[in-house]
Parts: sequence; structure tokens; C-alpha cells
Amino acid sequence: MEISPLRNFNKETLAGKTAIITGAGGLLGPHHGIALSCAGAKVILADINHEGLESSKNKILQVNSEAQIDTVILDITNLKAVEDFEKSYRKSNKYIDILINNAAVNPKMKELGSKVTGRIEDYDLEEWNKEIAVGITGSFICSRVFGSIMAQEKEGVIINISSDIAIRAPDQRVYSPTMSFEDIQSYKPLGYPIVKTALLGMTRYFAEYWGPRNVRVNALLPGGVFDNQPKELVENVKKRTLLGRWANVDEYEDVIVFLASDSSAYMTGQSIIMDGGRSV
Ligand SMILES: NC(=O)c1ccc[n+]([C@@H]2O[C@H](COP(=O)([O-])OP(=O)(O)OC[C@H]3O[C@@H](n4cnc5c(N)ncnc54)[C@H](O)[C@@H]3O)[C@@H](O)[C@H]2O)c1
Repeated sequence: MEISPLRNFNKETLAGKTAIITGAGGLLGPHHGIALSCAGAKVILADINHEGLESSKNKILQVNSEAQIDTVILDITNLKAVEDFEKSYRKSNKYIDILINNAAVNPKMKELGSKVTGRIEDYDLEEWNKEIAVGITGSFICSRVFGSIMAQEKEGVIINISSDIAIRAPDQRVYSPTMSFEDIQSYKPLGYPIVKTALLGMTRYFAEYWGPRNVRVNALLPGGVFDNQPKELVENVKKRTLLGRWANVDEYEDVIVFLASDSSAYMTGQSIIMDGGRSV
């Protein structure tokens, strides 16, 4: 089914605001950027992948040629690098009002049986450490560095990009051509649900910590985005989703503007589950 976002954004909604998006060089990052820039915010795209950043910038400009965009190579697991960036940015610009903790090590299931993901028995500890470092420590570092200034300014928004996998089991059978436990060919590794669940705890913790300083912290739990995954996987997931389909890559744009703007002014510490009904 062809569904396009309304993109009925009013560029006054976030006028004068600056937003930083971590992991902006991936699949969803440019769409967060499209949403925020069409709603009037200046966007800073941060990633460790230079080509990804350039591609995201171009995708945003194709939709919104007037978008104000900065890009930065930033490893969010490096506290000093994030602090240095924040200080140098603030010296010549306004402080950053909106943080989207979007970066993650997100193993893509391009091929069943490709062994890109780990069974518990031989799950690589280096991989585990990397997933935790980016998804949990990186989100903590960015929340601390950018959130502290928001708290000082008594205004700010943090959006943690979690996943529907934070509230359900992975159901590894979707990685089996026959939808059976006997024939699972590839596993969603343990680090992923751990990171995404941790983000819900982090959301509540920071929401309480900085609530009195008017920094709102919420989480978005997206469902799977169609990205030319293997056919069996696509069909298996469709069968387990109430709406019978995957999300389109641009379908989270409106909710990002909702969470970043005063439309959600009385909402903090909460989660929005937007997964086509899969977790139901
Ligand atoms: N795509 C989906 O189906 C889906 C579904 C639910 C949730 N999510 C979540 O949405 C977010 C975005 O997903 P995506 O599909 O765009 O992921 P992606 O893998 O395409 O992009 C993630 C980006 O994070 C960057 N990154 C990794 N380590 C980094 C570091 N140390 N510092 C800075 N950047 C770093 C990568 O270079 C990459 O560009 C993720 O948190 C993901 O878990 C995605």
C-alpha cells in the first residue's frame, strides 16, 4: 500500500530551534532531518560516517531546499569529543534545543543465513560491547552534554529512538523461511533489545531529573522499516503486524515533530509505540 507522509508541517512550529540528530547518516536520520527542518528548525546531522552524512544532507535538501543543515563527524561514545563539539558549537551559535538519540548499531537482515547476527552461544563480545557503547553509553553521553545546557536554559527536548523490540520478544522465527524454531537462520542479537529497553529507563530517569527544568524526555518505539529485506522475512513480519505491512521510511516524520514541539508540551517520560500493531 502506498502511503506518503502528509508533511503538512508549519515552518513556524520549530522556528528558532536547533536540533542535533545522532546517527543521522543512516536510514531514518534524514527523515528526522526532513521533519525538523520542514517545521522550521536548524538541524545538525552527527555521525561517524562521512558518506552517510553527505547523503542525508542531500536527501533533506531534495525535500526542503531551504533547510539549514550542519554536519559533523562525531563519535557519540567519546565524551570529550561530544563535550568539545557542544562547547565549540555554542561559542558561535545558539545552544542546541532538541536532541534526537537515534544512533545505534542496528544489524540489518539483508540475507537470511548471512550470519551477520549472533546466536547466544557464539555471540561476539566485541559486538556486544559496541552495541552497548553506541546505544546506551552514547545516548547517555549526549543526554548529559546537551541536556545539561537545556536544563541550564530551562528549555529543551530529548527524543530517544527505541524500538518495538523494547516491549516484545524478538520472535526469531521471522528469520526462518518456514517460520519455525528449528530453522532460524539468523538472530537479532541480544544487544539490540537490551539497548532499546535501556533507553526506556533512561527516558524516565532524565524526564524526572530535568522535569523541573522544563526539559522533556520521551521515547519513540518504531516498528520495522521496509528496506528491501529478504522476501521471507518481509512476509513473516507482515503476518505478525496488525496493519499487515512494514513501515515506510518516512512514516515517523510527523511524530518526530509532535515530540519535538509544543504539541507534546505536557508529555514527558513517556513512550509512543508506532509499530503497525505488531506488539499488540
Ligand atoms: N530501521 C528500522 O527498521 C528501525 C526500527 C525500529 C527502531 N529503529 C531505530 O531507529 C534508529 C535509526 O535506525 P536506522 O535504521 O536509521 O539505523 P542505521 O543503522 O541506518 O543508522 C544508524 C547510524 O548510526 C551511526 N553510528 C553508529 N555508531 C555511531 C557512533 N559511535 N557515533 C555516531 N554515530 C554512530 C551509523 O554510522 C549509522 O549511520 C536506530 O536507533 C534504530 O535502532 C530502526
